[in-house]
Amino acid sequence: GKVAVLCGGRSAEREVSLKSGGAVLAALKARGVDAHAFDPLQRPLAELAGFNRAFIALHGRYGEDGTIQGLLELMGIPYTGSGVLASALAMDKWRTKMIWQAAGIPTPRYALLDADSDFDAVVRELGLPLMVKPASEGSSIGMSKVVHARDLPAAWELAARHDRLVIAEAFVTGAEYTAGILGERALPLIRLETPRSFYDYDAKYLANDTRYIVPCGLPPEREQALQALALRAFHILGCRGWGRADFIVDEQGTPYFLEMNTAPGMTDHSLVPMAARQAGLSFEELVLRILELARL
Ligand code: DAL
Ligand code: MG
Repeated sequence: GKVAVLCGGRSAEREVSLKSGGAVLAALKARGVDAHAFDPLQRPLAELAGFNRAFIALHGRYGEDGTIQGLLELMGIPYTGSGVLASALAMDKWRTKMIWQAAGIPTPRYALLDADSDFDAVVRELGLPLMVKPASEGSSIGMSKVVHARDLPAAWELAARHDRLVIAEAFVTGAEYTAGILGERALPLIRLETPRSFYDYDAKYLANDTRYIVPCGLPPEREQALQALALRAFHILGCRGWGRADFIVDEQGTPYFLEMNTAPGMTDHSLVPMAARQAGLSFEELVLRILELARL
């Protein structure tokens, strides 16, 4: 049947999504799938009724947050990735952290920030540096690393332009990793190294000074334990199909989970395709596998 590759959309990650969608579309077509790009910003959503399945290559709001998933549920069109609840939860870093804490999945200490917050108290509680993040954004948009307490109000203001909910998070010094998840297994871990102060938007998509280390160099039992923890972090949110968990391992070897992405990037800089390749799966095979896992 006909497959809609949903991409573009109206989140701040629109450009990233157009790249993801373009790559997914090309892969599906190369494998003979009757696939068509569908940008929900530009087409009446009712036109989705002409499709049998949807590959969600949208990122961020209205794409990764349960809203389009709800529409597809109502229309009876099977779609890739997580369902309504898990998508909505994973989009919200604050609620994700609360669930992980309750489940014993380690995550950095945090505080909610708003205009009335006592910024000095937040700094005393979390220490410096700290990260300030809009709760529901992707690709590090609106995010700052705060090194000096005096910079916290401006960091809050920047994040608050993107979301009403803003969190401050203790900065974990260590090595950053990501675990792609495909079906019921975690893919090989990738270690990320950036010369920048953190893995920001430029480091993710524009710079070529980011290093991706795969295989990640950890002893196999250690890598397996972290993969198992990433799978638990995925399942406790109710995620399914595919996704990607990002975490930092501190100098004592303790992992701290930062977030779960339910519609991770599929651009040529992206991590899930890189991890899949390490597992012996080409980009086209990965895309077909994600589509096979589509459901209602
Ligand atoms: N939010 C971006 C697309 C990612 O996680 O890959
Ligand atoms: Mg994200």
